[in-house]
Amino acid sequence: MTQVPDRQRFEEAYAGDAPWDIGGPQKPFVAVADRVLSPVLDVGCGTGENALFFAGRGHRVTGIDFVEEAIGRARAKAAQRGVAVDFRVADALGLAESDERFATVLDCGLFHVFSDDDRRRYVGGLANVLEPGGRLLLMCFSDAEPGTEGPRRVSQQELCDAFADGWEIECLEPARFAVNPNFTGATFSEGGPKAWFAIVRRLD
Ligand SMILES: C[S@@+](CC[C@H](N)C(=O)[O-])C[C@H]1O[C@@H](n2cnc3c(N)ncnc32)[C@H](O)[C@@H]1O
Repeated sequence: MTQVPDRQRFEEAYAGDAPWDIGGPQKPFVAVADRVLSPVLDVGCGTGENALFFAGRGHRVTGIDFVEEAIGRARAKAAQRGVAVDFRVADALGLAESDERFATVLDCGLFHVFSDDDRRRYVGGLANVLEPGGRLLLMCFSDAEPGTEGPRRVSQQELCDAFADGWEIECLEPARFAVNPNFTGATFSEGGPKAWFAIVRRLD
């Protein structure tokens, strides 16, 4: 079977009703908004709702995604809402080469996309762009979500292993992803796919 490359799969998702495109921020990020410090990087920002939410609260925010269509829509929303966000087309696997530093990084639905190898590379990149003491706010599919439709499931142990060296997991709790009601491509748990929400601090 021919495997569709990751970027192409996401481009196809943006051609229709992407399940994660809910027109607002995911609730767990809103719930911890008071802990967010600038500057903020939203990695795999999609059409930008989480980034726009924090920019609306006065934060300096950069959003990156490797799909041009997503970044185009994010920029259009920012212009329409009169909110400033630096949205850029970029690959999250290139963060290790960045010379920018952020106090907060948001990952809403990206971590669970990566293979084991890419996950290690990605976490190394996060360590590079987060200031010492800075925080990663991460939401990913949980292994408590039944079935195999949608992204890879992630266990609590996998999260602990990924952030074992040079990080402190301050919070790791069950959560639920809100899903675009127009999306019909898969069936998830009633109340939304089961997720983990984590706050991870980069040690000084
Ligand atoms: C599940 S979506 C979540 C989008 C957004 N964070 C949200 O909550 O609406 C994952 C996003 O990550 C992007 N993505 C996947 N792999 C990426 C990579 N290597 N670099 C940058 N963006 C990536 C996809 O294009 C997609 O927009």
